[in-house]
Amino acid sequence: MAGYVELFRLGKSFPAPGGGESVVVSDFNLDIEEGEFVSLLGHSGCGKSTVLSMVAGLTTPSAGSIAVARREIDGPGPDRGVVFQSPCLLPWFTALENVLLGVDRVFPHVPKRERRAIGLYFLNLVGLGDAAERSAKELSQGMQQRVGIARAFAISPKMLLLDEPFGMLDSLTRMELQDVLQEILERERKTTLMVTHDVDEALYMSDRIVMMTSGPAARVGEILQVSFERPRDRAAVMRHPQYYPLRERMIEFLEEQDRHRPAVAPEPELVEPAEAPTDEEAARHPEGETEKVAEAAMWH
Ligand SMILES: Nc1ncnc2c1ncn2[C@@H]1O[C@H](COP(=O)(O)OP(=O)(O)OP(=O)(O)O)[C@@H](O)[C@H]1O
Ligand SMILES: [Mg+2]
Repeated sequence: MAGYVELFRLGKSFPAPGGGESVVVSDFNLDIEEGEFVSLLGHSGCGKSTVLSMVAGLTTPSAGSIAVARREIDGPGPDRGVVFQSPCLLPWFTALENVLLGVDRVFPHVPKRERRAIGLYFLNLVGLGDAAERSAKELSQGMQQRVGIARAFAISPKMLLLDEPFGMLDSLTRMELQDVLQEILERERKTTLMVTHDVDEALYMSDRIVMMTSGPAARVGEILQVSFERPRDRAAVMRHPQYYPLRERMIEFLEEQDRHRPAVAPEPELVEPAEAPTDEEAARHPEGETEKVAEAAMWH
């Protein structure tokens, strides 16, 4: 039976500058169990964000299908809570108001007092109970990312999608927030797909690590099972006899991919004459930060 989340023969091509199409992701298959934490790891530019953005519904797949909670998706929705590298808060709104933007939209019929209580509950869980009334622009980057995490959980999504959520933080804050996320997931278990560059972060957080080939036409290369017991303790995880063998395998895999990477940018694979991107495509450019934020803000 297919998983709780299913990515089936997923593909994404973009019009290539010289004509034709460049195939970024091709025949990408992945099943995720309910409550499982899966990390997506691969070299820069291999297509990790493209895959995540398709699952978020912000980028339309060129091929294949995606089901979340066993229902095929068609665009963004409140069943998926998304956290990007920078949390895209409204700077003049308080931490609580930022969380409530999503809650108000998803639960419009719930009395205001209860919606506020939901927002405060999740701000407490991320350790920001005392900062609920502070405006976002006064918060440190780490605190802002905590608001981003609270906002993603507060809409009661069926799944979490995280694109290098700690990538902009210094290493201490990064470890702090990894622990915040682990603790909140212990209480509110969610099926999670997280993109990361960081092998240690992937080992600490994940049940499985999906390593992508370098592309073009990137796909799932190898999957590692990470069975350290939960709740996880960083020191115990690092002392585990499987820690270094797994870590070594990840680095080996990445090095192998490096060796197979073309030395120069490959010629675009000519599939058919290039089509100009539709307005919808353009608006969904996963690297177009403004458009992405505007669309994601519908739910967050
Ligand atoms: N809208 C777009 N139009 C054309 N090419 C795109 C578009 N979006 C992504 N790409 C290309 O797809 C490839 C994969 O990009 P993606 O952002 O998914 O990589 P990534 O693995 O997330 O990289 P990083 O680790 O650096 O974030 C890149 O070559 C990128 O230039
Ligand atoms: Mg990326």
